[in-house]
Amino acid sequence: MALLEVRDLNVRYGEIEALRGVSFTVEAGQVVTLLGSNGAGKSTTLRAISGLAKPASGEIVFDGQSISGRSPEQIVRLGISHVPEGRRVFPGLTVKENIMLGGSNRRAAKAELSREADAMFDLFPDIRPFSNALGWTLSGGQLQMVAVARGLMAKPRLLLLDEPSLGLAPVIVQAVFRIITEIRRRDTTVLLVEQNARMGLSVADQGYVLETGRLALGGKPDELWSNEAIRAAYLGGHAKAAV
Ligand SMILES: Nc1ncnc2c1ncn2[C@@H]1O[C@H](COP(=O)(O)OP(=O)(O)OP(=O)(O)O)[C@@H](O)[C@H]1O
Ligand SMILES: [Mg+2]
Repeated sequence: MALLEVRDLNVRYGEIEALRGVSFTVEAGQVVTLLGSNGAGKSTTLRAISGLAKPASGEIVFDGQSISGRSPEQIVRLGISHVPEGRRVFPGLTVKENIMLGGSNRRAAKAELSREADAMFDLFPDIRPFSNALGWTLSGGQLQMVAVARGLMAKPRLLLLDEPSLGLAPVIVQAVFRIITEIRRRDTTVLLVEQNARMGLSVADQGYVLETGRLALGGKPDELWSNEAIRAAYLGGHAKAAV
């Protein structure tokens, strides 16, 4: 049984049909990457799963139970953590306090959350120096690491990551993707939204492509890459130049 099953999902924003009949599965222990161009419906898919967008129809089943119609708070408690687009952090708090906020869904003692937040800096050593500072200024990549660390503090079974590499320099993008691989190694299932097909598929066990609200295709990363026509149409790949 898949950890997550999305069945025939439809989401509307007024007149706009953002998702039409989207179905896919996420197997436990895998990294699944959802690709698609601007406006394809990637963020809407994650928002529907985490309860932030209400589906017009369809069903979302997590670990065997339907979560459609549940509140975001209930869904977090069931073990799904959503790191949204953008890098929202609270400037009035220290970096460590920002990370600890992610654990507020759990009934853990503050001392325990504090210990766990400290341990997060093993995964994100770049932000360790800012741990207890107030008035910090972080780079885009560092803010992204704070956001991912906060998402992990919920101890999710499924982590939803929305374009964690957006706007980051290539070397920082690589660091973020190394972290995704490490998260998977620690047995957290990841549903990753990416526009960069090459990077997104490089860490994936399974890939799906959304095209204007519909699931256009899905498959193993090497299957998706090996089809030249698919690559050109959906993945931003280019046919090799004639020599
Ligand atoms: N709050 C909203 N109100 C109205 N329309 C919306 C809203 N959010 C998204 N949409 C529309 O729904 C469609 C899907 O948007 P979504 O944000 O899911 O796409 P995306 O694949 O995440 O795009 P991007 O790569 O630009 O983040 C788009 O047509 C978008 O304009
Ligand atoms: Mg988006």
